[in-house]
Amino acid sequence: MATDTGATSGQGILSQDAKDDRQQLVELLTRAYWMEIETVMSYTANSINPDGVRAQEIIESLEEDIEEELGHARQFGQRIKELYGVVPGSLDFRAEQSYLQPPEEQTDIVHVIKGVIEAETGAIEHYNRIIEFSEGRDPVTQDMVIDILRDEEGHRRLFEGFLREYKAEGLA
Ligand SMILES: [Fe+2]
Ligand SMILES: [Fe+2]
Repeated sequence: MATDTGATSGQGILSQDAKDDRQQLVELLTRAYWMEIETVMSYTANSINPDGVRAQEIIESLEEDIEEELGHARQFGQRIKELYGVVPGSLDFRAEQSYLQPPEEQTDIVHVIKGVIEAETGAIEHYNRIIEFSEGRDPVTQDMVIDILRDEEGHRRLFEGFLREYKAEGLA
């Protein structure tokens, strides 16, 4: 960011000397921000579209997740700002979640479950990357992302359980 000159004094990730690390972190956090925003979009659609008695559990779980993912997006945005970055505008958005598009049949709950597992897996991988990069550089970002990672691991585990049930019944 052209405006990022860093703190006037001091040490750590906000110092002038840490500018390169800070910019790399802002890039990683910006990608995380967009992942969360796209997840909010995908989970919103997938919490409305499904039909059938089996869909209710999935719908309720996704409705809860939407709030959490939006909270994550806000946290990533806040940290971008604290690191002297700027939270991007919507024109910079590029969609990636091909696997979370509406299925052919709105009773195809397995499609939704697998899509959620893929989205959570992508988040888990990227957040592990941020945690690694933050090691020895930015304990505050690391601490924040560890908490968010735990949420994503919980989301994935829940949906893995749903998939297990469908598999046990020969439906997946
Ligand atoms: Fe999230
Ligand atoms: Fe999640």
